Amino acid sequence: MKIVMVGSGYVGLVSGACFADFGHDVVCVDKQESKIEALNRGEIPIFEPGLSELVRSNAAAGRLSFTTDLAGPVAQADAVFIAVGTPSRRGDGFADLTYVYAAAREIAQSLDGYTVIVTKSTVPVGTGDEVERIVRELRPDAAFSVASNPEFLREGAAIEDFKRPDRIVIGAEDERAREVMADIYRPLYLNSAPILNTSRRTAELTKYAANAFLATKITFINEMADLCEQVGANVQDVARGMGLDNRIGGKFLHAGPGYGGSCFPKDTLALIKTAQDHGTPARIVETVAAVNEQRKRAMGRKVVAACGGSVRGKTIAVLGLTFKPNTDDMRDAPSLAIVTALLDGGARIRAFDPEGMQQAKAALPGEVVYCTDAYDCVTEADAAVIVTEWNIFRALDLDRVKQLMKSAVLVDLRNVYRAEQVRAKGFQYTDVGRGI
Ligand code: UGA
Repeated sequence: MKIVMVGSGYVGLVSGACFADFGHDVVCVDKQESKIEALNRGEIPIFEPGLSELVRSNAAAGRLSFTTDLAGPVAQADAVFIAVGTPSRRGDGFADLTYVYAAAREIAQSLDGYTVIVTKSTVPVGTGDEVERIVRELRPDAAFSVASNPEFLREGAAIEDFKRPDRIVIGAEDERAREVMADIYRPLYLNSAPILNTSRRTAELTKYAANAFLATKITFINEMADLCEQVGANVQDVARGMGLDNRIGGKFLHAGPGYGGSCFPKDTLALIKTAQDHGTPARIVETVAAVNEQRKRAMGRKVVAACGGSVRGKTIAVLGLTFKPNTDDMRDAPSLAIVTALLDGGARIRAFDPEGMQQAKAALPGEVVYCTDAYDCVTEADAAVIVTEWNIFRALDLDRVKQLMKSAVLVDLRNVYRAEQVRAKGFQYTDVGRGI
């Protein structure tokens, strides 16, 4: 199959490389010339394990190419995926569809022969209808269908998620589009990934419902963690005890500083907006979003409490800045709210992240001092805070850390250590939801 990916950001690049690896002919298009030039030199603009190798090998095999020219490849394509950004719109939180509709208009100009236009970006219910209307208006003669094929991959595990998905959701309104989509995903049938054929609107909503539900699970366990701290219970055991019930499932029940990233915060807001607009408010999701927002800053207060009630004039070492490990993504990362709360309280911040420092410098206030590694970061600190559970923070030489710090105070917002082990080394240790 000949496939075009419009938008070579996270989803476009990962999906494009994986489709090429299935054996399809893929052209990734992006307006940003510098990005395309870099990709053509084999440089990958994002950090994602395994992606460089996948891009390089498929480009070398001639199945994957990058260009700023949309018209030529679209004319040849069997399917054109729209994988551009859908950020939250300033002011109302609704998904900003400017880029999606601009892509639809550009694609329309170049259609030649039957083509399936597929939205892969996370788009609100009804976006497919609008894309169809835009294309039909510009090209009444063209043979095309519009389908929805939401992506469920996680940053840091994107290639594995793409190649071994729990399910593939395809929302189409006609049989011809469904057949093209089935051909595209045929290689995955070997992994017996279930394919769910639905209407276009159902597929669009499924993506939001899935993300909102996962965000709800996290927020639920975070509230249980707070309760555990008050009643002297252990949230990890509570989560295990809940999760072993197959109806609940153990995943996404890790208590922490609140969810962040480019998806959950934005998608919950967009779903809330859509539900309000249709007169059926999603009250649970509204609460989840509000509770999560407050939680991030509350984690700053947790650090203040661990420091005896004030951080004024104290040095806090922040270990981990990205919203989760194995990514350089700082979007809506809990570290942003935590660092800001600590600075507001008069602290000095030293920070280290294995991959996210460059992005962090653009996102965090200028007074943050960036360090070369975890040990440099904790040197002379009054307290250290693990904000992101990178593997290197799971295996710190705690004796060395204690020696380097001014006072041995460790706040572990990801529960990576066992309390007894750290306290035995002489640390004052605070975790999340594992009451004594
Ligand atoms: C999420 C979904 O997991 C993907 O299925 C979806 O495709 C993607 O959004 C998207 O819409 O594109 P992602 O944002 O990459 O993926 O990251 P997650 O692994 O889901 O983590 C999101 C946040 O939740 C992180 O801040 C993480 O630390 C937090 N989290 C996750 C917890 O606090 N506890 C958990 O148990 C799990």
